[in-house]
Amino acid sequence: MAMIQWFPGHMHLTQKAIAERIKNIDVVIELLDARLPGSSANPMLAELTQGKPALKVLNKQDLADPARTVQWLAHYNALPGTRAIGLDACVAAPAKALIKACFELAPNRGGMVKPMRVLICGIPNVGKSTLINTLTARRAAKTGDEAGITKLEQRISLADDFYLYDTPGILWPRIIVAKSGYNLAASGAIGRNAFNEEEVALELLDYLIVHYPELIAARFKLSGVERMRDEELLEAIGRQRGALQGGQRVNLQKAAEIAIYDFRSGVLGRMTLETPEEFAQWLAAGQKLDAQRQVKKDAIELDRKIRFKQIKNPKNSA
Ligand code: G4P
Repeated sequence: MAMIQWFPGHMHLTQKAIAERIKNIDVVIELLDARLPGSSANPMLAELTQGKPALKVLNKQDLADPARTVQWLAHYNALPGTRAIGLDACVAAPAKALIKACFELAPNRGGMVKPMRVLICGIPNVGKSTLINTLTARRAAKTGDEAGITKLEQRISLADDFYLYDTPGILWPRIIVAKSGYNLAASGAIGRNAFNEEEVALELLDYLIVHYPELIAARFKLSGVERMRDEELLEAIGRQRGALQGGQRVNLQKAAEIAIYDFRSGVLGRMTLETPEEFAQWLAAGQKLDAQRQVKKDAIELDRKIRFKQIKNPKNSA
């Protein structure tokens, strides 16, 4: 299976703008999708914000498996300089939890002289606008664009001594782990044209049959799902939901869309597509592959340089 790739461009501009903004930031909030915390993180952000206290917000927790959210929160809370909280669009006062966690991370900030300055980041569709809208609607204190970084940068005041800056630019996911590509696609974080629905649905079902067989069986009124292969399950789902074409053949594309839609909207139930341990394994494997690719690239580059030298100085090539 080919790895899903998704680099919509302008990333270097976002990178530059974040690097500029980060200098005057006390805490970086990274909004993650609670159903795929590892995959919805942007590794570039970790590089850009190294050393800054980090608050991981597991958003959309209403859609995620609560037991796994507990595991992820514990995982992040055990990292140095890091705190984690779960949120969802139904939490009535998200500002309170955010402010408390930020002051725990940077206790030396506060008061009018040293206000808390926080940057909020997250890949598209993770719920950043929803959260910012909730925060601004509560306090109606959006202070507008700030000159200097980008015209569109927002500064929101959550308290007299607490400023929240929205990321300048769009932080796209960077996919170095094949499984992350599928999870991001299943969650809705990747543009429709960048992936094949059937492939994504098969990967999704492959995971869900093992980890949430009862929820799948209940939603699609199927028995014996534990014994089904993912293709069989996709077909059974299509048949059950009337996604047929030309007689009794299942329209697999339609069945895939149904499975993905049901997962995204939460009607399948509360599910999480990765545990901290699983993600660590995928990441290690992805990084190993990346390193192997780099070694190959370096060897090709070295070979090219030697050939170039030989062409320029044919006497040395004997
Ligand atoms: P973004 O700015 O990070 O890109 O995300 P945005 O706030 O636009 O949210 C993306 C979708 O996620 C929205 O759905 C929004 O309602 C939903 N969402 C945000 N926070 C939560 C949450 O805590 N729980 C749940 N269940 N949903 C949340 P949408 O408007 O229907 O967009 P879409 O379905 O077309 O992507």
